[in-house]
Amino acid sequence: MNGGMQTGWLRWLKLQQKTKMKSIKDIENLEGKKVLVRVDFNVPLENGEVINDRKLRASLPTIDYLLKKGTKVILASHLGRPGGKIKESLRLAPVAKKLQDLLESKVHYLSEFAGNSVQKKISEIDNSEVVLLENVRFSPDERENSGKLAHKLANLADIFVMDGFGITHRDHSSVSGVAQLLPAYSGLLLQKELNNLDKVLENPNKPLTIALGGVKVATKLPVIKNLLDQADYILVGGGIANTYLKAKKFSIGNSIYNDKYLQQALDYCDKEKVVTPDDVVVGDNDGDKYQNKVIKNTHTDLCSENEMILDIGPKTAEKFSNLIKKSKTVVWNGAMGYFEQEPYDQGTRSITEAIANLSETSDSFTLAGGGETVHFLEKENLEARLNFVSTGGGAMLYYLAGKKLPGIVNLKK
Ligand code: 3PG
Repeated sequence: MNGGMQTGWLRWLKLQQKTKMKSIKDIENLEGKKVLVRVDFNVPLENGEVINDRKLRASLPTIDYLLKKGTKVILASHLGRPGGKIKESLRLAPVAKKLQDLLESKVHYLSEFAGNSVQKKISEIDNSEVVLLENVRFSPDERENSGKLAHKLANLADIFVMDGFGITHRDHSSVSGVAQLLPAYSGLLLQKELNNLDKVLENPNKPLTIALGGVKVATKLPVIKNLLDQADYILVGGGIANTYLKAKKFSIGNSIYNDKYLQQALDYCDKEKVVTPDDVVVGDNDGDKYQNKVIKNTHTDLCSENEMILDIGPKTAEKFSNLIKKSKTVVWNGAMGYFEQEPYDQGTRSITEAIANLSETSDSFTLAGGGETVHFLEKENLEARLNFVSTGGGAMLYYLAGKKLPGIVNLKK
């Protein structure tokens, strides 16, 4: 089989697998059923209040659908990383309060995630009401996924619905474990996320551009590897670009990079389609002293010991923006620099504006995701201009890297 035929065949296979995912819309006779829904309510809190309810709002279509069908909706989520122990600051009570503001139906918050008292409470509530279980990561077995917690959760319900796309990359009890024990279906948010990501993976309108930045290098290099054939341009800034420059023997001072990925960064970023910065902004953390440095192969000192690379330079920002302008499909994850501090927000702002403008042209499709990416979009009021903004960070990168998401494996027909 030649390469082209093989790629076509693999795409066909993937499409077949996708269409075979069971949907909540396939479930008949929902009235009176207890439905356990795994959501991703990992939202930021400040002074005991939810300060961003984006993930809650994204989950409403599934919750509303189930409530209208007369089910008892039992929501399970994690919040933060309490490490298998109860951490008072990571209880889901503030999330329940916020959810109650968004829903007409009654939301009952429980301070436990499983057991007899939880079962009793569920038996007492009316149909079309909601129970929010306590943070499942208070159990060490959430992560270990030995079967104990999965069984306890399965005992609470008749049906399992996976809807928290942002957690599908974790092989955890409340994600993949319980899906093996109950009839399991995909929720509306999960379907929407996968449909949009598949617009990038399956016959995207070309040129296809992937923009990657941020500090985490480990999760982004696999995306470059997986999309290298398909993409036309892969624009890199942030930690990946720094790791590449370090591997090329530039002195990068205190810049953020990942020592473990020097060789991989070199292998991928030296490819023709991968566009690395031609200039960078070097400075100190508080933005008082900074300068643009043009990258020349003959001149390898970019930073003194105390300096850092904190943004892509203006020439690079222009080059990246022009490549985005001539693309038809753009995926973006990760800031180009330390955008929280002026003037290091310029590079990220340039590419964000280019992506937002492209979104409004015909035949184009733009998608972004990841914590800081979404934070920047919200800060600049640009979120609504993009064609799709994912609720996933790690999960989105996993899927784009071609990896199997444990959270969707058991949802197949
Ligand atoms: C996220 O916020 O990306 C998800 O909730 C996953 O959280 P985790 O990285 O702690 O598993």
